[in-house]
Amino acid sequence: MFDVEAIRAQFPAMNQEVHGKPLVYLDSAASTHKPTAVLEAITDGYSVNYSNVHRGVHTLSQRATEAYEAARHTTKDFLGAADEAEIIFTRGTTESINLVAHAWGLDHLRAGDEILVTEMEHHSNIVPWQLVCQRTGARLRYVPLLDDGSISLDAYAELLSAKTKMVSVVHVSNALGTINPVAEMIQMAHDVGALVCVDGAQAVQHLAVDVAALGCDFYAFSAHKLYGPTGIGVLYGKREHLEAMSPYQGGGDMIRTVSFDGSTWASLPNKFEAGTPAIVQAVGLGAAIDWLTAIGFEAIASHEDELLRYGTEQLQTLGALRLVGTATRKSSVLSFVMEPAHPSDIGTILDLEGVAVRVGHHCAQPVMKRFGVPATCRASLGIYNTHADIDRLLQGLRTCVKMFG
Ligand code: ALA
Repeated sequence: MFDVEAIRAQFPAMNQEVHGKPLVYLDSAASTHKPTAVLEAITDGYSVNYSNVHRGVHTLSQRATEAYEAARHTTKDFLGAADEAEIIFTRGTTESINLVAHAWGLDHLRAGDEILVTEMEHHSNIVPWQLVCQRTGARLRYVPLLDDGSISLDAYAELLSAKTKMVSVVHVSNALGTINPVAEMIQMAHDVGALVCVDGAQAVQHLAVDVAALGCDFYAFSAHKLYGPTGIGVLYGKREHLEAMSPYQGGGDMIRTVSFDGSTWASLPNKFEAGTPAIVQAVGLGAAIDWLTAIGFEAIASHEDELLRYGTEQLQTLGALRLVGTATRKSSVLSFVMEPAHPSDIGTILDLEGVAVRVGHHCAQPVMKRFGVPATCRASLGIYNTHADIDRLLQGLRTCVKMFG
């Protein structure tokens, strides 16, 4: 039985006032708050089991190594990966995509090749590919969006060809909330011989993800949007691809041998984890995954989908408001404009009411361009949100309507 009040009670950050009003946090797409299970795992990680990993014979180093590798095991099970070698810890989704773009792209792309991304990508799934295209001569192409913020699968099918070497697509859009038909897109890409990288930054906290069932070649996500710590993320890669790729960064822990004449690499996953990793953050990620999976994605999705339905219905009662992103399959994001008020003014007024939303281009400037707006207000939902939070958002927006007419 999903009990949102019992969930909220596990988040110390929810129990505070902002500008004298109880906090309503509607910015989970930017970053989620952390439950006590995660905070305690981090505290224990630093206070009891802390040392560097993979290096020491002493007990603390062994304990830290065990905890770090246990987090990898937990992550492997969470994603349905075949083995731990396929789970690389990175700094976050951005670094995971940069790793694929550089370590795979620089060796595998050349002039004439094409990479497909969509018009709804976050900058972190555009710019790394632009950088790699500049260096290889490959061409980056964009799959257009329909007016509701979903991908045009017909246009996607037309853009796919033997030239396509990689499709890199967001699973759930941070700016629109669209859930993309990634399984179908992966199948279509594989049919022309292209690999697929999925940006799961806004998906893993809302939907059960199984990389084996999806068949994707790479899958990236960040811990801090999954109720875990900042500074750590994950790249899942199929073993055959990771084996064939050169290292992304050089340094300690990613080598087998080093001499002045050259070096050889450690086996997976260490080959892609140069230097001291984010040890305690990995432990926090493992705790976040355990915490979330104990609640279960069926319950989470049903709670969040109901809030999304209620929020959509309520926002539509404000005549001046236009939702940006109305795809049939959506998750947890309410992006909108309410002219003549500028999104920044709305965000400031809402903040004075204790309501936290994000305003701006959400690191997705092409999405703003596609919908003809400079910016939107974005209310994004997390596991701890309630119908009362949506009511407080509405109350704040009514104040904006009164002020701006
Ligand atoms: N990508 C994050 C967001 O959508 C930061 O807010």
